[in-house]
Amino acid sequence: MRILVTAGPTREPLDPVRYLGNRSSGRMGYAVAAAFAAAGHHVLLVSGPTHIDVPAGVDFLPVETAAEMFDAVARHLDRSEIAVFAAAVADFTPARPEPEKIKKSGTVLTLELVPTRDILGSARDPLGFTGTLVGFAAETSDVLENARAKLTRKKCDLVVANDVSAPGIGFDSHENEVTLVWPEAGEPLERASKHEIATIIVEKVLARHTRRHQAPAAP
Ligand code: CTP
Repeated sequence: MRILVTAGPTREPLDPVRYLGNRSSGRMGYAVAAAFAAAGHHVLLVSGPTHIDVPAGVDFLPVETAAEMFDAVARHLDRSEIAVFAAAVADFTPARPEPEKIKKSGTVLTLELVPTRDILGSARDPLGFTGTLVGFAAETSDVLENARAKLTRKKCDLVVANDVSAPGIGFDSHENEVTLVWPEAGEPLERASKHEIATIIVEKVLARHTRRHQAPAAP
């Protein structure tokens, strides 16, 4: 099957040398891409800048900004049967990036930020994706309620929820502790390495996709 995975942070330029970014390492998304490839699938990884190696056997499309990630996803989504959006996409971008380096002026600098487009939230409409759709929800409070709201709002089949305020897990760490929020129930997974968690997510997503999309066996 063809799988699209987004991963990593985005960088929103302020001027030629500065950007707005976030603490996503990209590890969770890269582990998901690696697990799908290890299961024999054709994976396209659309990734913001990270320090990790592209997993073996994965096609790689590097991007920098939220707008570039949106365009890359829009170009490739209709060729995918499963899409996993693990990227930490900036919700805001500078309204007018400066063409020259911003100089100190000794006074307060006020930035005007405008919202970016929600890539996961656009997958069903307007992008028309009909396959299995998986999102992530990085939360600091009311984790399950917020994740379930994202599941409904973004029309996902699964949202992987994690509490990024908990020490030792989530952003920038090798371990994670997540709850799989399905339409019918929440399924907590034990704390484990991102590699182990990715393997479980991939097994469960493949099983659900196969159940939903395979024609019933002939009598
Ligand atoms: N996402 C996306 N495009 C965006 C923002 C988020 O594709 N512009 C995806 C992320 O990849 C993730 C999911 O949406 O799979 C949830 O991201 P998150 O940052 O937790 O949620 P937001 O939609 O940004 O909502 P909020 O900031 O209000 O929590």
